[in-house]
Amino acid sequence: MSIKIAPSILAADYANFASELKRIDETGSEYVHIDIMDGQFVPNISFGADVVASMRKHSKLVFDCHLMVVDPERYVDAFAQAGADIMTIHVEATKHIHGALQKIKAAGMKAGVVINPGTPVEALEPVLNLVDQVLIMTVNPGFGGQAFIPEALEKVSRVAAIRDEKGYNYDIEVDGGVDNETVKACYQAGANVFVAGSYLFKASDLTAQVQTLRDALND
Ligand code: DX5
Ligand code: ZN
Repeated sequence: MSIKIAPSILAADYANFASELKRIDETGSEYVHIDIMDGQFVPNISFGADVVASMRKHSKLVFDCHLMVVDPERYVDAFAQAGADIMTIHVEATKHIHGALQKIKAAGMKAGVVINPGTPVEALEPVLNLVDQVLIMTVNPGFGGQAFIPEALEKVSRVAAIRDEKGYNYDIEVDGGVDNETVKACYQAGANVFVAGSYLFKASDLTAQVQTLRDALND
């Protein structure tokens, strides 16, 4: 699977989304990761579909939307209309994960499924045939800047093994605490999409910092 870097706009300057999107575009990153938080599924609140629709006017990047929202099926149409390319939803957030993923695909988006650090891979297995992307959280969701949880790597390996066994085709994404020191272990476990927020945006030269992640994969 091809490597994709997904800078997380959660770590950017929210008063300047247009220029931040331009800066991300200039790094050559494949995706921009957009975290949607409702203050219910996670304690934090970020922004919703209307903000994503405004961002869409300023960027042609792939919008990788990660919904940390209760009953995300309520927002499928709104995100499709906003111009989201990938909509990734938590198994823990809905009673109807299968139906919600079907709805995302029917709306013309790529469908992603995500599990928290405390949720086993078994919770994903019934929907792995449906999805375009599996996201394994490597921190508890809600905030940027947290420490990477290494135990999540076993789950990355497991979803990679299931993909090989069954002939599925999903990307495997990791999110949380990804930096130049943790990215390689994620890659070796089988991940190919790397979300990074605080590590990338703490640098003044975003393009050079993205390159350090790519270089770390080859070390
Ligand atoms: C956390 C979010 C992440 C966050 C990662 O709930 O899902 O996407 O932006 O931030 P870092 O890379 O700082 O851990
Ligand atoms: Zn995220």
